[in-house]
Amino acid sequence: MSTKVVLGAQWGDEGKAKVVDYLTIDADCVVRYQGGANAGHTVKVNGNVFIFHVIPAGILHPGKICVIGNGVVLDPEALFKELKELKERGISVDGRLFISDTAHLVMPYHKALEKAVEENQGSEKLGTTLRGIGPAYRDKVERTYGVRVMDLLDANSLREKLTQTVRAKNQILTRIYGQEPLDERKIVENYIESGEKLRSFVTDTSVLLNRILDENKTVLFEGAQGTLLDVDHGTYPFVTSSNTTAGGACTGTGIGPTRIEEVIGVTKAYTTRVGNGPFPTELLDEEGDRIRELGQEYGATTGRPRRCGWFDATILRRARIVNGLTSLALTRLDILDSLDRLKVCVGYQVEGDLIEEFPTDPRVLERCEPVYEELSGWCSPTTEVRIADELPAQARKYVDRISELIGVPINLISVGPARDATIERK
Ligand code: IMO
Ligand code: MG
Repeated sequence: MSTKVVLGAQWGDEGKAKVVDYLTIDADCVVRYQGGANAGHTVKVNGNVFIFHVIPAGILHPGKICVIGNGVVLDPEALFKELKELKERGISVDGRLFISDTAHLVMPYHKALEKAVEENQGSEKLGTTLRGIGPAYRDKVERTYGVRVMDLLDANSLREKLTQTVRAKNQILTRIYGQEPLDERKIVENYIESGEKLRSFVTDTSVLLNRILDENKTVLFEGAQGTLLDVDHGTYPFVTSSNTTAGGACTGTGIGPTRIEEVIGVTKAYTTRVGNGPFPTELLDEEGDRIRELGQEYGATTGRPRRCGWFDATILRRARIVNGLTSLALTRLDILDSLDRLKVCVGYQVEGDLIEEFPTDPRVLERCEPVYEELSGWCSPTTEVRIADELPAQARKYVDRISELIGVPINLISVGPARDATIERK
């Protein structure tokens, strides 16, 4: 048995899917455990680009089992779109895609309500992906209106439950937000039909996964978003609504914590963030624009330009402790190839004091000035390098310094989007 959690160590978009795709070569099963279609997981294989929002990135490997765990909020519409695209591209999911019967669903009213709330907030908005994530998790936790995958399988009770729920949600949409009501009948019929289409994938995935582990197989847990978007450990309220950190892999799948062996934090060689919220090392100048263009830093889900900045070791130290990181995968090193000088944030200065831990209080974070260490760049291409010792000396220095500042080994380095543009370090 071997289990590896692969999760984002920053604010998402770290290249988790590339790492998951690479590690799937030696795995039997890949599981998504939280989030939903807010994720945009990009994989490039043989020049073909795939973007996954719902289905685990491991699906590209024939025969590997893929699971959507109970912690995910599932949008059937997004799932069917992805299934159709995979089919058109000749990738079969038959008999190897499983969906938890207890996962909650994202409904049309979740998306409509989120849009209404965000619009209502104006400049105070969170800048979400508008995929209905927050409202779907709210209904799950609030318990009155949550709809689970298993509910789709019984048309009569679903009809009754959904009719009441859509009526209640329409009250909020029309009376509080002045929006048009949603078509109750259309939603009900649509979801009854979805249930029929989903039926063959639905199972008790906790039992399935524990059985797979009992058979001594290797399971990868594919995190979505990143550590600082975690609802408990992130930059609240500018976070997502799930536990993106390692604990989510247990609660979102029904695997006990004693079965988790490795936790791999994926981090870019610099920092990005999409959506609102604090970002101490953000570059609001040409240097930031340069990184954005070099890295083509535009959202895979919403197309929004990502905010760019220097690597921040304080963020990674937070990621190390809240996830219990056993190693790091450093991605997008090649994007820095042409920069002649690089900065790494080693801590923050707050009114004369130096702090090394990422603050939990946004009012403190606001007053933080990053303290930088400057390193010279390597100014030569790394994309063809496959052996760590063959990286330019300055690139090796950059990687080693990052690892030293965080106190976690960097065992994987990505130097390009393709599967083979990967360097393993022992
Ligand atoms: P992957 O898995 C980067 C951000 C949104 C917003 C905040 C809340 O591709 O790394 P939400 O729609 O989740 O309620 O939005 O979280 N966000 C992400 N940022 N990568 C993601 O996913 C993200 N998923 C959500 O931009 O700031
Ligand atoms: Mg993404």
